[in-house]
Amino acid sequence: MSPEPIISRFTAAGQGQVFRFWNELAPAEREALLAQAAEVDLDEIARLHRELVVEKPATAAGVAGLEPAPFEPRPENGGDTAKWMRARAAGEEALRAGRVAAFTVAGGQGTRLGYDGPKGTFPVTPVKKKTLFQVFAEKILAAGRRFGRPLHWFIMTSHANHAQTEQFFAAHDYFGLGRDRVHLFRQGRMPAIGFDGKILLETKGSIALSPDGHGGSLRALHRSGALDLMEREGIDTLSYFQVDNPLVRCIDAEFIGFHLLARSEMSSKALPKAYPEEKVGLFCLRDGKLMVAEYSDVPMDVQRERNADGSLRFSAGSIAIHVIDREFARRMAAGGAAVELPFHRADKKIPTVDAAGQPVKPAAPNGVKFELFVFDALPFARSPLVIETDRANDFSPVKNAEGLDSPRTCAEDQLRQFARWLRSAGADLAVDATGLPAHKIEISPLYGYDAETVSESWRRRPASTITPNLYLE
Ligand code: UD1
Repeated sequence: MSPEPIISRFTAAGQGQVFRFWNELAPAEREALLAQAAEVDLDEIARLHRELVVEKPATAAGVAGLEPAPFEPRPENGGDTAKWMRARAAGEEALRAGRVAAFTVAGGQGTRLGYDGPKGTFPVTPVKKKTLFQVFAEKILAAGRRFGRPLHWFIMTSHANHAQTEQFFAAHDYFGLGRDRVHLFRQGRMPAIGFDGKILLETKGSIALSPDGHGGSLRALHRSGALDLMEREGIDTLSYFQVDNPLVRCIDAEFIGFHLLARSEMSSKALPKAYPEEKVGLFCLRDGKLMVAEYSDVPMDVQRERNADGSLRFSAGSIAIHVIDREFARRMAAGGAAVELPFHRADKKIPTVDAAGQPVKPAAPNGVKFELFVFDALPFARSPLVIETDRANDFSPVKNAEGLDSPRTCAEDQLRQFARWLRSAGADLAVDATGLPAHKIEISPLYGYDAETVSESWRRRPASTITPNLYLE
């Protein structure tokens, strides 16, 4: 790669500081820096600095005109049972036809959990300590067996964790899914800038680059060739979920069916918020268009507003579970003014180097990172749809090392789920007032992944007694 054109482009854009230490770099370091620089869209950076840093204050409220979004209630909460049954039949038909693939976004850095490694390799299950990736893999495998069509699984990684994720899957023989059905690809990166708009260096020879957010998944699906592969395989529907939630129904026929019957381009699951302060995005309407307002953007007094009956006015929380149409992803990836995901700004402490090239670990935010959010695609989708889900069977993420949404709360929620399924299958198992069994048990998704499939297996292969650390596979 010839350095001159790139360096002069950066200098002309007022970003010459990126090459400040050029003369001190070894040839390989120069090559690496040039390759990074070639990834950067300087016009985009200038625009984002102008729009999000210069013109916009750090905490943009922007809640004017927001209304709560409607959603399809579950049958037990007044929803139309016949409609849910039709949805399920439509979803099962699509699964039998091989139209569906699973998609996990796993590019995040898991900083809050304090775990050093790809988050998907974090052990979560109560007895076997299976990793998040293994839990998803078994659910996907189980769905493939049930519907007679093995599923493809797309996993978005980041530059930081791609190689480790790849090694992990290879070492576990792709958990039986088949190497040709597990597709890992990297998400894009964005440079961090100082508040003055200057691109920050992480070291003398590297730009401070970070993942472009889960919204980068739509571009990455396209760039990696995943959308073309789906098309060749006759797959038109992606079941999207985050890497941090082992309770998720990776492949949910009802949800897929609702999406397909509505001819929706992107559908979402909503959870009634457990309490006003719960940190989940909120499904809203703005100018009649469905959108998610991030919790940090909605003032707390608005989040506490109640209806006359005492229920929360904005209750539909987004738990980042979607169904996405393949061609919609392609359209969003192509971008253009009419369908462009907006970048969000996050002020961060970004490790960098000073003018002398010495490392600096800032104590206060020294710059800005830019991220895309996948739910920002909703306003662009045709007939977007939201259905209600139940927390106990879809959501218990591992986000923090301790307290709320921690490995402990997640393991307990898995135990409650296993106990619920076994009891509904007729097993004799005592639980406390919160539904927690007295000792640890575990059910592999290959034994059963919901009340119905667990009951079927239990009828065929019941355990004589439920002993501590019982594992059903
Ligand atoms: C997210 C959602 C929030 C939702 C909650 C549910 C955002 C901004 N907020 O919050 O609305 O209620 O989950 O659990 O998304 N990821 C990437 N690449 C990135 C960044 C993230 O792949 O560049 C992946 C992570 O690996 C993870 C997921 O996206 O699977 C969520 O990321 P995280 O930053 O942890 O989101 P939350 O703040 O927990």
